[in-house]
Amino acid sequence: MLELPQKTVIGSAHSKLILVGEHAVVYGEPAIALPFPEIEVKATVDQVDGPIQINSSFYYGLLSDMPDKLEGLAICIKKTCKELDQDATGFRIQIESSIPIGRGLGSSAAIAIAIVRSLYAYYEHDLSRNDLMKLVDIAETYAHGSPSGIDMAAASSEVPIWFEKDKEIEHVYINKPFHLVVADTGRIGDTHAAVASIKEQYKVDFTETKLSIAHLGKLTTQARTALHDGDHSLLGMLLNRAQDELSKLGVSDEGIDRLTKVARKSGALGAKLTGGGRGGCIIALAKSIKHAKEIADDLLHAGADQTWYFTVGE
Ligand code: PMV
Repeated sequence: MLELPQKTVIGSAHSKLILVGEHAVVYGEPAIALPFPEIEVKATVDQVDGPIQINSSFYYGLLSDMPDKLEGLAICIKKTCKELDQDATGFRIQIESSIPIGRGLGSSAAIAIAIVRSLYAYYEHDLSRNDLMKLVDIAETYAHGSPSGIDMAAASSEVPIWFEKDKEIEHVYINKPFHLVVADTGRIGDTHAAVASIKEQYKVDFTETKLSIAHLGKLTTQARTALHDGDHSLLGMLLNRAQDELSKLGVSDEGIDRLTKVARKSGALGAKLTGGGRGGCIIALAKSIKHAKEIADDLLHAGADQTWYFTVGE
């Protein structure tokens, strides 16, 4: 008998970086986020008999047996099938990701985006940005509590974005390309706990916390102007100030502080944590791509788990 070719489709999504404004964005301040295309997630869907199977490095088995911590992703997949008017059965999703988990690089958002994209492609439906965001938000809400939405917005954007909660996303104009180094402390950050701790601080010291959050918002606005003007020295200084403020808010830690110091000693124009903090990654602004490589090497020597460097705005 002639075997019909198996239908296989792929959906993908890249990583993201928050340049400035993390945490403050939860309280309505703006943040600037960037697509980080160097690392990505690929979700491959193909046909199988029986219930939905998930093959990945973090879970291998039936969708119905997924552990509680992946409940959001499971619901997101079921809701996607419902949106597509399809029974939640008869396919397998294989997930391959080069985005380290829990490092503030948007891995959970990218996984959900890649999956939703792959299922829409598998069932040959167009996917609007609104529908994508609505479905991914289900997984993100389970993963992060009450996320601002910046991760999924940036992991699905091809250009740098200006993000304010519940507002239209704007593109950020980059006058002069800049060079970033990303370094992983090697420790999983806990965005959920970091966000909760700032919420707690609001209760303990409302005025001081509000001032810090407003200051981060102001630094983000100034960073947008620096990007617009191509003023990298100013941008670096603003990143350093943002790191000071995030430290004050208690979301930095020893590992982040050490790597930011190393980056600055290597001549970085600025360095700060990126994402939720308390572990995870730092970013450093370099003077050139050659300088970015030198900083990345120094960070590796100083104990960073992994580093990447790339140019934004080319
Ligand atoms: O998921 P992470 O670690 O990249 O953090 C997201 C940014 C926060 O501002 C800390 C939280 C949020 O939901 O905006």
